[in-house]
This record gives sequence, C-alpha cells and structure tokens, in this order.
Amino acid sequence: MTEEQLAVARAHVDWHMERYGYDKANVTFRHGVIEDLASMGIADASVDVCVSNCVLNLSPDKAQVLKEIFRVLKPGGELYFSDVFCDRRLPGALREDQEVLGECLGGALYIEDVRRLLAELGCKDYRIMEQTEIQITDEAIAAKVGLARFFSLTLRCFKLPELEDRCEDFGQFATYLGTLDPVSFELDQGHQFEAGRARAVCGNTAAMLTHTRFAPHFSVTGDTSVHYGLFGSSGVLVSSPHTIGSTFGACC
Ligand SMILES: C[S@@+](CC[C@H](N)C(=O)[O-])C[C@H]1O[C@@H](n2cnc3c(N)ncnc32)[C@H](O)[C@@H]1O
Repeated sequence: MTEEQLAVARAHVDWHMERYGYDKANVTFRHGVIEDLASMGIADASVDVCVSNCVLNLSPDKAQVLKEIFRVLKPGGELYFSDVFCDRRLPGALREDQEVLGECLGGALYIEDVRRLLAELGCKDYRIMEQTEIQITDEAIAAKVGLARFFSLTLRCFKLPELEDRCEDFGQFATYLGTLDPVSFELDQGHQFEAGRARAVCGNTAAMLTHTRFAPHFSVTGDTSVHYGLFGSSGVLVSSPHTIGSTFGACC
C-alpha cells in the first residue's frame, strides 16, 4: 500500500459522508502492511470483522497475514475475504514471474494450504460464499500456467476455537428471525435460512449462529451435550483424509 493510494481514499471521505448521511467520518486509514498489523497499532482481539479483497495473494507470507488477522479478531469475530485461489502449489518460477504475479495469479493461494493454515490458527471450518473459476484469456499467460486452474473465492472464517474439522450432529436446530433481510439469510453457499423456518444444523453452524454477530438474529435450540454422529452421514463411517478426500470447508 502506498501514501498515494491513501491520499485518494482520504480525498473521497467527504463524498461518502454526504452520500450515506454521516456528520462525522466513521473511517480511519492507517498506512502499513497486512503482515504486521501491530505496527499500525491494531491491538489483540480488537476487531469485529476483517474484510479484504484481492490482497492476500500478493503477500509473500500468507501464514503471517492470517496469523495477524486472527490475533486482532475478537472471539467470534470474522475474516470475510475474496481472493484468487489455485488448485495446486505453483512452481517457484511462476510465483516469481512479474507478469503472472501482476495478474494476481502467481501468488494465488492453494486452497488446501489455506485450510491447513486456518486450522493451525484454530479455524477448523470456514465457509464459502462465492466460487467462480477464472478464465485465463491471455494466451501468453495461459501458456505459462499450463493446466493450473484458478478460482475467485469469497470465504467467511470465524474466530471460534470450538469449531470442529467435520460437521457433527448434536440434534440442533436454527431459526432465522428475519431481522436482517426480511425473507432469508445466507450464512454460506450451502446454508440459506428462510425467515421463521427451523432447520437442522451441525454443531459448527450452530456455533456460528450463536457466538458471533449473527446471534441476535437466530434462535438456536439444543446444545452439544448429546452427540448423534457425523452430520448427514446416514451411518457411514469415514475415518481418514484418504477416505474422506479433500473438501472446501467442513460442512456438507
Ligand atoms: C489487487 S489490489 C486490490 C485493492 C482493493 N482491495 C480492491 O479490491 O480494489 C491489491 C492491493 O493490495 C495492496 N497490497 C499488496 N501487498 C500488500 C501488503 N503486503 N500489505 C498491504 N497492502 C498490500 C496493493 O497496494 C494494492 O492496493
């Protein structure tokens, strides 16, 4: 990030205050890098939601970025970000190719490594909001990346250490109260809650609706005292990553 970029942002503060009816600005800008939020004075457990669009892929140290974000998030806080992901770890030459990097492809995050990094930080279940494959139309770049496939993903990652790496069934139900959108609420691609309609949820989803900013908008029944097995497993016993295969996030 550069001072010039911040100058552009500051120059538009008044326009936004007028447009959205604020007498006083509700934003502040701090100059720094996402690998080191502490140097910008962002304290531990002080942030409700961290939003980012297409920045993590440009960082040479993605583990450090995620570590910093999870340090500053409050318990129950959320990292909501869109970025470029890849179906594999790209070879070093591609990761250093300035043209491929500049297209936000060279630094694309390998989804399985992101899953591992998040799990190490205690986020064992993240949710996908949107997922689109990126078509490489530039022939020279397509030739360089070969068969690697790239995706634009929007992920929701809660700071909830109680999340498990699989969706477990505790017989819980969640009902959306209709207090955000009057019709429905989308927690993620696979979880759209119709207002007023109870829906069976796994322990992770129940936690996401009970211990986060969404809690006032849901009624969740039951607790985790009685376990009924893997959520939606219909009695199938799976036990190893090889058997399960790799998935995006934990929930069915
Ligand atoms: C592709 S642009 C996305 C900008 C903006 N988020 C948007 O959606 O329009 C990437 C931005 O990330 C910034 N950036 C790259 N590496 C960074 C880092 N390590 N720390 C902070 N910002 C960084 C760049 O300055 C650039 O503004």
